[in-house]
Amino acid sequence: MEKVLLLIFFIPTLIFCQDDNVIIEKTRKDKEKEIFVNDLIAKMTLMEKIGQMNQYSNFYDFTGPYPKNFVDSLKFEQLKQGLVGSVLNVSGVKKVKKMQKLVIDNSRMKIPLLFALDVIHGFQTINPIPLAESASWNLELIQKSASIAAKEAASAGINWTFAPMVDITRDPRWGRIMEGAGEDPYLGSKIAVARIKGFQGNNLEDPLTIAACAKHFAAYGFAESGRDYNTVDVGLKTLHNVILPPFKAAAEAEVATFMNSFNELNGIPATGNSFLQKDILKGDWNFKGFVVSDWGSIGEMIAHGYTKDLKSAAKSAITAGCDMDMMSSAYILNLKSLVDKNQIKINLIDDAVKRILYLKYDLGLFKDPFKYCSEDRENKNILNAQNRKISLDIAKEAIVLLKNDENILPLKKTGLKIALIGDLADDKDSPLGNWRANGPKNSAISVLEAMERVNKNILVYESGPSLVNKSTYFQGELDINYSDTSGTNKAIRLASRSDVVVAVMGEHGLQSGEGRSRAKINLPGIQESFLKEIYKANNKVILVLMNGRPLDLSWVDENIPAVVEAWQLGTMSGEAISSVLFGDYNPSGKLPVSFPRSLGQVPIYYNHKSTGRPGPSDNVFWSHFNDEKNDPLYPFGYGLSYTNFKYTNLKVEKLGDSSIEVNLMVENTGNRSGQEVVQLYIRDSFSSTTRPVKELKRFKKLFFEKGERKDISFNLNYDDLGFLNDDGKLFFENGKFEIMVGGSSITALSQVIEISSSKE
Ligand code: NOJ
Repeated sequence: MEKVLLLIFFIPTLIFCQDDNVIIEKTRKDKEKEIFVNDLIAKMTLMEKIGQMNQYSNFYDFTGPYPKNFVDSLKFEQLKQGLVGSVLNVSGVKKVKKMQKLVIDNSRMKIPLLFALDVIHGFQTINPIPLAESASWNLELIQKSASIAAKEAASAGINWTFAPMVDITRDPRWGRIMEGAGEDPYLGSKIAVARIKGFQGNNLEDPLTIAACAKHFAAYGFAESGRDYNTVDVGLKTLHNVILPPFKAAAEAEVATFMNSFNELNGIPATGNSFLQKDILKGDWNFKGFVVSDWGSIGEMIAHGYTKDLKSAAKSAITAGCDMDMMSSAYILNLKSLVDKNQIKINLIDDAVKRILYLKYDLGLFKDPFKYCSEDRENKNILNAQNRKISLDIAKEAIVLLKNDENILPLKKTGLKIALIGDLADDKDSPLGNWRANGPKNSAISVLEAMERVNKNILVYESGPSLVNKSTYFQGELDINYSDTSGTNKAIRLASRSDVVVAVMGEHGLQSGEGRSRAKINLPGIQESFLKEIYKANNKVILVLMNGRPLDLSWVDENIPAVVEAWQLGTMSGEAISSVLFGDYNPSGKLPVSFPRSLGQVPIYYNHKSTGRPGPSDNVFWSHFNDEKNDPLYPFGYGLSYTNFKYTNLKVEKLGDSSIEVNLMVENTGNRSGQEVVQLYIRDSFSSTTRPVKELKRFKKLFFEKGERKDISFNLNYDDLGFLNDDGKLFFENGKFEIMVGGSSITALSQVIEISSSKE
């Protein structure tokens, strides 16, 4: 008894002491850092300070349009003079070492460079594209995926990634939908934090972690008509409740940096937007890191019609809180004269430089500028078996089974003849998707290779027509009119002589991503008509989709018995797909974004408002289309399994005066074990501002043995039931709330609870 009492007494004290020590240690380190950096800044000339705010891309490997009249040789001179703070697109220990040495050996202050790269979903081991990873709803795996990307990149000299992209979007036309976590602010926030933790680990000083960057601040995903870089005009309610939450979560998770964005927001380009960067990010959220511009976005304020020349663009950006200039040369060319002429205050520059130097300090670069330059680590840590294993785990969980009539899947491994059709089945490059960092060309396992490994004797492959002209696709536009139809007849003959057809179709790996918006979201080229011919020859078709965005699959859904959404799954793609097709892995992915029935429904998203005429009605005067349904083809949160899950016993109760407990039971009623994503949504029935018809508030991904039942419980705070007002402040109002649970946003059970709390 005494022991128990002692323990009860000691545990909180111990925890308290530990937390206390951590805080004391952190404060001590922060103080040391402040002293070191202030001391350094005091010794720097104005031009050296501005140099820290200047970022260039390596000249032979770029991820944006190269500026006209840009003199590369100047860059080397500037590097030597300490007039560059960071470079992007330089990687590999040898190259990084060489460039760092140039700066350390020649510049007066010897301030090490930051080496940045778009490590978006892997460095050389390429993980599923972020949208696909988000379909796993597995935060632990998403974190692991980011941590192997960080480990590989850091081993190749990189110490800063331009990820995660946390832009919420509701528009499948936008090519960069592949790079985010989909349409939901709650899921998007959780995933943002998981990715940041994965990249940054517990301590940036660890040489296997890298600084992360939450981008693009803000509202880039709300480009009109989904056309990249296009105008954004959204109200404050949408901004605060939908667009900003993942950014706020990123700031709270202490992401090292933010990137602003190409778009304008309500008339002001994000790069020159004080409301976003100063008032919200550095003000309300007290963000201590620094903000980098997007590629050339300071200079682009001239084309926006917001500033008259590069000088006023520089002034607008620095005044608004943009600390580093990526590829505009606006700062290096203009800040000095702006200070000299008293048009901006020197403390703006000091603040920006301090933020940048803090990160260099946190990364340990002042102790050792060559810290990320170990050839031994580079040889050991990249594309190794351990990383590939994690990549495979996440690739399997990213797959979403959209349709499986009469349990046509999984396939038997013997005793049947499978026709494998489609050039994407034999493509080792497309599955790497866009933003593949240093992923070696053709390094993915193809579907053909993986299925052959399972049983070569049951498989015959025919590519059919070719999706793209492979010799021209890499940079620039895809030739969308390209159609090499040779091979069509052979493929159709094969289909007719087989027991089942596995057709692999979708988008080419570079058909989504930056600058890759599409005005049509059907299967590109002649694929749909080819699929129709195959279906005529043999209606037992399993369609495996590879794509970077939701597609219009209406005909497919009406006709094709099984549809597997396999996105672009990276290095281990084929193996993951094959394990789902043959039933070695039971699919568990759920859509992070709604799939429309047709383009006319876009933007379509589950957390829409009700309108005053939600219908349905027997007259025409309700909010609907005359030629299309209102609901999506496949809703947010949806995804099938080879087993079934039954939801029962929902009980919603108040817990004290500030929270709610939700209990339910989920049972695996099918014949296999499998994972289920149990989702909880709320609806505020009425409020002083209209609220969405559903909002995701909690989820759990759980494994169930065959026949297993689990009691599941969630806690909600009243804050979870609230909303953000136009000032970004949280508001809670009493009233009736509907609590809904299920395996998709089309929920299975619901209960209404009335709350009258003193919290209001
Ligand atoms: C432009 C993109 O918008 C941004 O996301 C990326 O990080 C930079 N280019 C650098 O490649």
